[in-house]
Amino acid sequence: MNKIVEVLPDKAALIARSQEVVLNQIQGAIQERGRCTIALAGGSTPKPLYEAIATQDLPWDKIHVFWGDERYVSPEHPDSNQGMARRAWLDQVTFPAVNIHPMPTDGTTPAADAQKHEAQLHEFFGTKAGDFPSLDIILLGIGDDAHTASLFPQTEALQVQDQLVTVGNKDGQPRITFTAPLINHARCVIFLVAGANKQPALAQIFASAADSLTYPARLIQPQGELWWLLDKSAGQQLKS
Ligand code: 6PG
Repeated sequence: MNKIVEVLPDKAALIARSQEVVLNQIQGAIQERGRCTIALAGGSTPKPLYEAIATQDLPWDKIHVFWGDERYVSPEHPDSNQGMARRAWLDQVTFPAVNIHPMPTDGTTPAADAQKHEAQLHEFFGTKAGDFPSLDIILLGIGDDAHTASLFPQTEALQVQDQLVTVGNKDGQPRITFTAPLINHARCVIFLVAGANKQPALAQIFASAADSLTYPARLIQPQGELWWLLDKSAGQQLKS
C-alpha cells in the first residue's frame, strides 16, 4: 500500500486538490486500460468536487460510475447519494446512461438489492463469486464515528469478507454498501475529509493501535494507493 496524506489550508483548497488527484487517476486509468471505473462517496463533502468535475471536458463515454454506498431510498429522495451525484455532475454533462451503475434500492429487501448489485458488479467486471474486482478509484468520506461508506461501528457489515456488497446499518436504517474487502481491492482509494468535527475520528483512524470494529475506516488498507485529502480543520492535529 502506498499511503499519501495531504492537509490543505481550507475546504476550497481541499476540493481543488481532490479534483486534481481524481482527474489524474481518471486519465491514468483511461490511458492504461481504455476506461475508468470510479465509485462515488455520498454525504455532503464530495458534492463540490462532483460539481467541479462536471466543468471538465472529459471522455465521459470512457468513465463508469458506481457508488460505494447508498441510503435505502429512491433516487428522488433528498438523502439519495445517487440523486446528489446526478444533480451535481452526471446530469450536467453528456454522461451515457449505460455508464451509470447505481445501487438498487427498489427491490423486495435491502439484502435482495445487495445481492442484485453484487451480481451486477460481477457481470460488469467479468468476475465470479469469490473473486474481487478492482475498481480504478473509490472515493470515501468518514463520519464523526469513523464510519466509511456505510460500514458503521460494531455492525455485521464489518465482518463480511466473502461478498462485494452487503447491507449496512445506521441506527436501524438500512444502507447498501461496498464491503471492506471490495474497497481494499481498488487500485486507488481517496478519502476526502473536511471539518473540525472529524478530528477525533481521524485521531483514532491514524492511531498506531485502535479497534477497527469501533473505528471502521481503519479497515481500509487497499493494496493500491491510499490518499487522505484533508482540510486543515480536520487534519491539523494529525501526525501521519
Ligand atoms: C453516506 C456516505 C458516508 C459519508 C460520511 C461523511 O452515505 O453518508 O457515504 O460514508 O461519506 O458520512 O459524510 P459528510 O461528507 O456529509 O461529512
